[in-house]
Amino acid sequence: MAYKVPRGTQDILPDQTPKWQKIENTLRELARVYRYKEIRTPIFEHTELFQRSVGDTTDIVQKEMYTFEDRGGRSLTLRPEGTASTVRAYVEHKMYGSPEQPVKLSYMGPMFRYERQQAGRYRQFVQFGVEAIGSADPAIDAEIIAFAMDVYQTLGLKHLKLVINSLGDKETRDAHRTALINHFKPHIHEFCDDCKNRLEKNPLRILDCKVDREHPLMKTAPKLTVYLTPASKEYFDQVKKYLEALGIEYEVDPNLVRGLDYYNHTAFEIMSTSEGFGAITTLCGGGRYNGLVEEIGGPSVPGIGFALSIERLLLALEAEGVELEVNDGLDVYVIALGDEAKVKAVELVSSFRLKGISADMDYMMRKMKAQLKSADRLQAKFVVIIGEEELEEGVVVVKQMETGNQEKVQINEIVNYLKQHLN
Ligand code: HAM
Repeated sequence: MAYKVPRGTQDILPDQTPKWQKIENTLRELARVYRYKEIRTPIFEHTELFQRSVGDTTDIVQKEMYTFEDRGGRSLTLRPEGTASTVRAYVEHKMYGSPEQPVKLSYMGPMFRYERQQAGRYRQFVQFGVEAIGSADPAIDAEIIAFAMDVYQTLGLKHLKLVINSLGDKETRDAHRTALINHFKPHIHEFCDDCKNRLEKNPLRILDCKVDREHPLMKTAPKLTVYLTPASKEYFDQVKKYLEALGIEYEVDPNLVRGLDYYNHTAFEIMSTSEGFGAITTLCGGGRYNGLVEEIGGPSVPGIGFALSIERLLLALEAEGVELEVNDGLDVYVIALGDEAKVKAVELVSSFRLKGISADMDYMMRKMKAQLKSADRLQAKFVVIIGEEELEEGVVVVKQMETGNQEKVQINEIVNYLKQHLN
């Protein structure tokens, strides 16, 4: 039997990992300058955590979780997202008591959702996310959005669209909820079973339904914007004011609702507007979740964050034809001619590596010509050749591959020589 990776997952092979590492390093560096310290939480959590936070009636909880019972009979779930775990850890470790507020956290790691496989949609994908917990200042909403935009711009993407919306406060949501129920109720028999269930539990989710998307009542559904309380409006205006001060262009989309239940006030997504992009254009999503900490058993503390996946980021880079500058080239390839020279070559390779110079040599007993070909294929910047004659003379032959220049260098000077010429 031939084994294959499970559907919706992928192997990232060595020719791709340099790109991943470049992106991961960029994300970590941005987290450093924005001051979001890394938190690492388990890959699985108690199932109830996601039911409570992401929401019982969401697609994620109802259809997409990898849930299993462990040998002790506990129901556990592979995390479908990172906010719930981060907030759980924040509460568990009483970070609300820290003198430094808001608490700014970041994370990067695999998430799991049992979704239909298509371009940009995987069952295991890597999210980078950040959360700022403890502040209800609209300036931090702008910081979070600016951070997300910065990720894409730093990596060279240009065809981006930022869409924002306000989901309002509890009062807004309650009034909107009632309006939605009144709107859909008389025709609910025309909708799918999921929507029938959602009607009383969470009618907002109906707007998110993939099955009934085209139903005429979807377009005429009451807009949340109409129910925004003056305080919510004022908050949203402030967020927009800060975005404008930062020179960040945005579009307000009153239909942006997001697929997770914990949001209120600011919600946003960043899309790729690149032509080559597939059907799923959302690169990043986030928003405010002022009731979540309390829901998970902590004090009443506000929060906001975003998450993006590296998989979709890579697709966007590809669609825009952006080549990341990655450094996986070889500094020096050492070729030995003869048994004694080989011993010296092993020593040299080791001494280069100790000085941070990437070095390699032949371990397949290939002839000189094949070794030179290897050096070429590996795009070595230098080749160092050592034969019996050079050994006796105490020198090596160094060839700079780009120019073809060749010279003899004293063996005890070779590390310095390479260091000088590699910069
Ligand atoms: P989300 O919109 O469910 O939000 O996911 C955020 C991002 O994760 C998406 O925009 C997309 O880039 C990526 N993503 C989601 N599902 C997949 C998939 N199946 N394959 C590849 N990429 C995917 C959240 O997860 C929230 N926790 C974001 C957040 C943080 N809100 C506040 N703080």
